[in-house]
Amino acid sequence: MLEEIKKVGQEALEKLSEIKTASELDDFRLEYLVKKGKVQSLFAKMREVPDEEKPQVGKELNKLKNQIENGFKELSVKFSREAESTPDVDLSLPGRKRFRGSYHPVIQIIDRMVEIFKALGFDVAEGPDIEDDFHNFDALNFPPNHPARDMQDTFFLASGDDLLLRTHTSPAQIRVMRKQKPPIRCIIPGRVYRNEAISARSLAEFHQIEGLYINKKVSLAELKGTLISFSKKMYGEDSEFRFRPSFFPFTEPSAELDISCFLCGGEGCRICKHTGWLEIAGCGMVHPNVLESGGIDPEKYAGYAFGFGIERVAMLRTGVDDIRIFYENDLRALNQF
Ligand code: DAH
Repeated sequence: MLEEIKKVGQEALEKLSEIKTASELDDFRLEYLVKKGKVQSLFAKMREVPDEEKPQVGKELNKLKNQIENGFKELSVKFSREAESTPDVDLSLPGRKRFRGSYHPVIQIIDRMVEIFKALGFDVAEGPDIEDDFHNFDALNFPPNHPARDMQDTFFLASGDDLLLRTHTSPAQIRVMRKQKPPIRCIIPGRVYRNEAISARSLAEFHQIEGLYINKKVSLAELKGTLISFSKKMYGEDSEFRFRPSFFPFTEPSAELDISCFLCGGEGCRICKHTGWLEIAGCGMVHPNVLESGGIDPEKYAGYAFGFGIERVAMLRTGVDDIRIFYENDLRALNQF
């Protein structure tokens, strides 16, 4: 028996010294340390040992058991420590930079404009990008031979159903009037299309925000007051504005809203073409013919309307002097906004 204990002990210690992984250690546990393992089997044999030898054999057996258990514990502690620390990570390396996305500058401007108009009591409406000739021109009081209908300005669709890509957001005015009863107070942001030569100042696709207010009594003073309070919130209290008489078929009287040039402060420079002013919106009192096209009685109701070009505003706010930069998707440019 003493011989056997010695043999099991030697064999176990040898195996322990060769163990390299946690799974090898588990195999060792199953061989020696479970109920039917080699150590317990030796204890079971104690019954056959003659009484006078029992104290000595018992002592050796306990010694063997402790030795194996201690060796096992030492290795399990070692393996669990190794599992916790991951030695292939170099904690002294600088972190990897995470890039945060941001809204496109044009979307940021639209969001800000919508926010300001909402605070002034305007709802947000929408119209389709693909329009028909009626909504885009006729209903807006464009005479039959108006140059804006010219093939050079408008993208007509090949289907031949009078369909076209809207050249402005104004046709949505008609759609809103036909759907909603006055009082109406809404803005309509959206994309518009023009068959124009692409340059630093113009693209074939850009954005506008249309505005429409219709009620029993509406005055030009209200239009001016609304646009000025919007513009001061958008551009700062110190900015200066002026209304300049203009012409649009769908408004009478019509005007354009100018802001004093952000670059030269009104002195005159390349950006403002030496006038000291930049045009930011068209506006006017809704023409009675347009109210009629929208199903609203011009004897009972009046209205004002306005249209802002977004890219122009975005250029003013960001100082970007070539409109194409907004659409080239060059991250070096877009990351700055
Ligand atoms: N639709 C015009 C354009 O694209 C802008 C405009 C001018 C809209 C006057 C209006 C307005 O609603 O009243 O140039």
